[in-house]
Amino acid sequence: MKKATSKRVRITDTTLRDAHQSLWATRMRTDDILQIAEAIDNAGYYSLECWGGATFDVCMRFLRENPWERLRQIKSVCKKTPLQMLLRGQNILGYKHYPDDIVERFVALACENGMDIFRVFDALNDPRNLEKAIASVKKYGGHAQGTISYTTSPVHTVEAYVKLAKEQEAMGIDSLAIKDMAGILTPGAARELVGALAKALPDMPIQVHSHMTSGMAAAMYLAAVEAGAGCVDCAISTMSSFSSQPPCESMVTILESEGYDTGLDQKKLAEINAYFRDLKAKRQPASTAKVEPVDAGVLVHAIPGGMISNLRSQLAQQGALDRLPEVLEELPKTRADMGYPPLVTPTSQIVGVQSVLNVLGGKRYGMVTDETKHYAAGYYGRTPAPIEKKLQKKLIGDLKPITCRPADLLKPGLAAAAKEIPAKLIKAEEDILSYCLFPEVALGYFKWRAQPADAKDPIPADVEMQKKAEETVPAAVDPETAKFAQIGKAFAALMATVGGGKLDLSAVKLDESALAPLPETGAGSDKSVASPKAADTKAAEGTPVLAPLNGTFYRSAGPGKPELAKDGGAVKSGEPVCIVEAMKLFNPIKATAAGTITFLVEHGKPVTKGQTLAVIA
Ligand code: CO
Repeated sequence: MKKATSKRVRITDTTLRDAHQSLWATRMRTDDILQIAEAIDNAGYYSLECWGGATFDVCMRFLRENPWERLRQIKSVCKKTPLQMLLRGQNILGYKHYPDDIVERFVALACENGMDIFRVFDALNDPRNLEKAIASVKKYGGHAQGTISYTTSPVHTVEAYVKLAKEQEAMGIDSLAIKDMAGILTPGAARELVGALAKALPDMPIQVHSHMTSGMAAAMYLAAVEAGAGCVDCAISTMSSFSSQPPCESMVTILESEGYDTGLDQKKLAEINAYFRDLKAKRQPASTAKVEPVDAGVLVHAIPGGMISNLRSQLAQQGALDRLPEVLEELPKTRADMGYPPLVTPTSQIVGVQSVLNVLGGKRYGMVTDETKHYAAGYYGRTPAPIEKKLQKKLIGDLKPITCRPADLLKPGLAAAAKEIPAKLIKAEEDILSYCLFPEVALGYFKWRAQPADAKDPIPADVEMQKKAEETVPAAVDPETAKFAQIGKAFAALMATVGGGKLDLSAVKLDESALAPLPETGAGSDKSVASPKAADTKAAEGTPVLAPLNGTFYRSAGPGKPELAKDGGAVKSGEPVCIVEAMKLFNPIKATAAGTITFLVEHGKPVTKGQTLAVIA
């Protein structure tokens, strides 16, 4: 079977990060990892992807583990194989930009605790969102792997990708990854792209990362390797396929059959696989067990499978599932309008929700989410193609567009964050970083940790597994999926009013119970849209300001922010005077006339569509 010639190709094992994030909602525990870590370390992988992505959040939120401790423990066993992590550039592991001091300190501590290879990526491929993270990795002695987030569009040409790779080369990256998160890279396109990159950057090691979602990844890996890629990402077979990586064992044999030597031994791989086969029964959440092996739809429309299922459940929630074809037709148009962003968190959410609003709202961009506004104003980074000026103006409203590196607008945040945590809850500096990334989740974990050993609240993941046994409630939700689903719920509540239909509150509530609260936005998103009050009957003369949808009424844009308009003060027609929040969507409500405004609703109270919020005399 083996060819006589032997060229070296390495394999990165993703079993301990992407694979269980893709298949088990990231529920693998540190103890699970430690029992097999030595065998994995001895197998001969290029590196072990075992940290970053969603693992950090899930460790604290669901497993009640310290993610830093997980890193140290893996490092204490895995001494031969470099450890690898996925780092979302300036977003670190979260969903927003963090100040530079937090990015640098996070990377420094990760290096100190044993991280070797940092795969740094940005959803928009904006090099300005990568530069601080890459510079920090270099500064603290790590291996900086640059990344191309792969997508297809008229502006995502091979030349554009080569240019992007060269920009990252100039930042000092040690290797380059092609990140095909949606599994849409074809063997032909991989051959062309890797070939061009290998020619333009002859000394740059190229690694390819994909998902088996569309069923193409193993064939694509072979084409990429033939064109010059030196490393591919795989998972042990039990943890592979579906929306995870291609199976390592199969890839080894495929590569050997073409004369490549991976240095991996099938016997050792079989032992590792047996361990995960047993673990599967214990750790795979029920909700992720019924996934189709291949999502062939991706081959037709190139929309990631996770996105489609989210769109489907959103539409189903308000009885508009029949409009899915329209949404699927609208989505590429919205994406084109928005400058062809790759569809990966957070752009997948922004484009997805906006597309649905465009279809069900009856008018394209008649309703624009806050996220779309900020995206269109440049706060996420530079869009791959510019957004047409007139449309941009319409999208951003009164927001000021920016052209600088988004993180340049952020003040240092580490010292301020440290002061926010009760001193008795902090054990080490790493806790401050955990708090910076996921404030609510980290505090919840710190408090749990501080409970006496014999009186700790149950571990949320254990509670889930009990529920799985009872098979009553859908189990684990991946934080990234949950974030999308939360926006989806907000949108469902919104559409129920926009469409003139009745808001099915019981459905919204039920769904909520299955969802995890979210990082950053989670705390603020818990307010229920339930218990709509009867419209305020307080009589008042003047032009009414009406609630456009069911939600929560606010006088200011957030805690500590000034009121948008003074009660009894003068307002100009068209200026925002209050806010109605439907779950995660913040909808500024504008003055309908000029004059003196009198508010009829208290800050923080639920309101219903059509309710008079204020009058302007
Ligand atoms: Co991935």
